[in-house]
Amino acid sequence: MEITILRGEEAHSYNVELENVTLLSVLNNIKTKIDPTLTYSHGCRSGVCGSCAVRVNGREQLMCEYKPSDGDLVEPIRNARVIRDLVVDTSSIERFNCAGMGWSESFKAENVSAEEMERIETQSDCILCTSCFSACPVYAVNPNFIGPFALTRVWRYVNDPRERDSEAKMGAIQINGIWDCTLCGACVPVCPQSIAPMQDIKILRMKSGMLGYPDPTMNFGGGFDLGGWDF
Ligand code: SF4
Ligand code: SF4
Ligand code: FES
Repeated sequence: MEITILRGEEAHSYNVELENVTLLSVLNNIKTKIDPTLTYSHGCRSGVCGSCAVRVNGREQLMCEYKPSDGDLVEPIRNARVIRDLVVDTSSIERFNCAGMGWSESFKAENVSAEEMERIETQSDCILCTSCFSACPVYAVNPNFIGPFALTRVWRYVNDPRERDSEAKMGAIQINGIWDCTLCGACVPVCPQSIAPMQDIKILRMKSGMLGYPDPTMNFGGGFDLGGWDF
């Protein structure tokens, strides 16, 4: 099969004699037998570490899970600076997580029921693969968007009964956060852990309303002409 890999500005095509194997196996084969300069990142080889996300034919995939076909085009993930070939700089994603305070700030010592743990189980399964971040179109217009990965983490901690300071987290995601999401849904199908960041963002919006934060998407700007009624 022939696989094409975007390396910098150039697309390089490689022929490999492998079938029914993962993309990571194909790249390992290319690196050991054809071109040792090919650069990509991976760790666990089993869908756990999240370090091998790339785009294949325009869609985010984990290299250690995806099985390639003849003619596939492999590119680095989007919205991150390419260091070399398929390796990107993910430091901006960590910056977004800091902006949204997507971590445990100060846990109360408290017994948590099995039911409460179940409520945060899905988001806790995030493997930090950055696929949702890559799929999000908002970065084309707002490079400071906190983004699906970090907002999902914020919801995980806001929803944790042990978290003391969830209101500070809600305050941190009002600017460049939940209201900048267009609810396009692009972050949902690409998640290898079946997390739905868009749904978490919707819930965070509802929670914001309950805490008294205004919804800027409901700002009509005073420009409506509704039969003589001024708004
Ligand atoms: S639903 Fe929101 S966070 Fe998800 S990809 Fe679309 S704009 Fe980005
Ligand atoms: S939410 Fe899903 S797609 Fe996004 S970083 Fe976590 S595991 Fe990856
Ligand atoms: S190598 Fe760890 S998730 Fe693919």
